[in-house]
Amino acid sequence: MGRLEGKVTVITGAASGIARAAAGAFVQEGALVGLLDRNADGLDAVAAELGERTFPLPTDVTDEASVAAAFDQVRQAYGRLDCLYTCAAVQLIGEDAPVHELDTEVWDRTYAVNSRGVFLCCKYGARLMIDAGNGGSIINAGSPTGLTMSGAGWHAYSSSKASVMGLTRVMAADLAQYGIRCNSIVPGSITTPLTKALHDDPVQRPKLEAAHPIGRLGLPEDLTGIAVFLASDESKFATGSLFFVDGGISVR
Ligand SMILES: NC(=O)c1ccc[n+]([C@@H]2O[C@H](COP(=O)([O-])OP(=O)(O)OC[C@H]3O[C@@H](n4cnc5c(N)ncnc54)[C@H](O)[C@@H]3O)[C@@H](O)[C@H]2O)c1
Repeated sequence: MGRLEGKVTVITGAASGIARAAAGAFVQEGALVGLLDRNADGLDAVAAELGERTFPLPTDVTDEASVAAAFDQVRQAYGRLDCLYTCAAVQLIGEDAPVHELDTEVWDRTYAVNSRGVFLCCKYGARLMIDAGNGGSIINAGSPTGLTMSGAGWHAYSSSKASVMGLTRVMAADLAQYGIRCNSIVPGSITTPLTKALHDDPVQRPKLEAAHPIGRLGLPEDLTGIAVFLASDESKFATGSLFFVDGGISVR
């Protein structure tokens, strides 16, 4: 029996990277997985690979009507939601900058996905959990950039991730009465399309590797264990916490 047997879950950003790997792990543990992303073709490819325990939810997380419709689809199909894992995000490397140089449009575009998008998914996800009355687990992808020097130079992205971690903690305070737990996973620098420009850069890569005491960059698979744990009942006493799986980058 899987650790997530029969749980109805939604993972955002599931066409790529960390969320895609988590979707595979959730399926292996017996969950039904709603794959939510704005990249519809990417979702179809992931759904074809992971099989019938997944269902695609093509959605733009910045668009409230689109998010509401996705969670309504889950409500109609299953009447419940046991876990929401929000990963959809953008990092506008090359455009993001220190505050005094930052283009307001870059700030807005970053916040639309990373902050508003997470809020909207939590809003409609939490409503479904509350209405179903079975509690649930909300997991939001945070980042050390919202907490440490590793965010220097990227004031839009880093502060947007701080907003996600702040929302997670205040949600934990108010949603516990419904049996809903809210936690953040804080990854190190993980090789995905989001970080490709940095990880492929021959100057940046060795600096980033050296910033992780564990001596290497992360892979999406490095984060699947913590996600399964937080989605499962094994973590039933955990809420309002940040779970660092970051190769030690935050201790610097
Ligand atoms: N990769 C890292 O090093 C790293 C480190 C710390 C935190 N994180 C966080 O982990 C999460 C996943 O990151 P990743 O590296 O897997 O990213 P990724 O770029 O591989 O995947 C992000 C996904 O989000 C989707 N997306 C973007 N905008 C969207 C929108 N408006 N609506 C719906 N979907 C949208 C993209 O289509 C993509 O599939 C993010 O929240 C990121 O901030 C990543």
